[in-house]
Amino acid sequence: MDGASSPTAAPILILLGPPGAGKGTQARILQDKFGLVQLSTGDLLRAAVAAGSDAGKAAKAVMEAGGLVSDDIVIAILGDRLADADCAKGVILDGFPRTTVQAEALDDLLAEKGQKINAAISLEVDDAEMVTRISGRYTCGACGEGYHDSFKQPKAEGVCDNCGGTEMKRRADDNPETVAQRLEAYHAQTAPLITYYDGFGALQRVDAMGDIGKISSDLGAIVKVATA
Ligand code: AP5
Repeated sequence: MDGASSPTAAPILILLGPPGAGKGTQARILQDKFGLVQLSTGDLLRAAVAAGSDAGKAAKAVMEAGGLVSDDIVIAILGDRLADADCAKGVILDGFPRTTVQAEALDDLLAEKGQKINAAISLEVDDAEMVTRISGRYTCGACGEGYHDSFKQPKAEGVCDNCGGTEMKRRADDNPETVAQRLEAYHAQTAPLITYYDGFGALQRVDAMGDIGKISSDLGAIVKVATA
């Protein structure tokens, strides 16, 4: 892949970062702020598992163990979703790509449509912070809004600020053993993408250790420039 984005095309942004870095939290904020579509391969895979599709059956055990689902499955799921009409307004990729093979497949998928990514933004946090964030995480079962026992609680206990839903869920893979595996997979297979995107000038780094609002304002400034 070479050069920068094509300014007339719909924006394509990538959020890179380890488990618990805040990719989902920030992607949802950017989605609302910029009218883009959040595409989370984690969410797409969890939906496939819940639906009991062939892809979901193949992904289930890998996800429970904290490994990465095979490139073929993830690329197919992402490619299908990217072809949906709503993605024409632009997307924020949350959790994809996670391997160099996926990054190259994304380049090819976009090139077929005359598109390139606008920016790959790396959310930078340390490993200890990720474990704290993941262990306190829960989400609204109805709309997927994310919360945290200490850092982000709904205004009324047990009631989603976003949709009023009252069923809160915790993820099966948010246990200490699986989180350790997910971190290992990140460092071994996904962190090299930082160098990949830096290589053609698309990488932006954001300190993701601070307050959610400050991080989203830093991200917003980057997205504004990258999509101008
Ligand atoms: P996925 O669902 O993508 O999980 P992940 O990458 O491990 O990331 P998380 O969702 O855990 O964290 P996040 O960065 O979104 O953080 P969040 O915003 O929730 O993937 C799950 C599994 O699916 C993988 O392990 C793999 O098996 C498979 N998979 C997915 N994509 C794949 C791919 N492309 N290839 C192969 N396999 C794939 O924040 C965490 C918590 O912290 C929340 O409670 C939040 O409220 C809180 N928080 C957020 N920001 C802050 C802050 N600044 N300060 C304090 N608290 C904060």
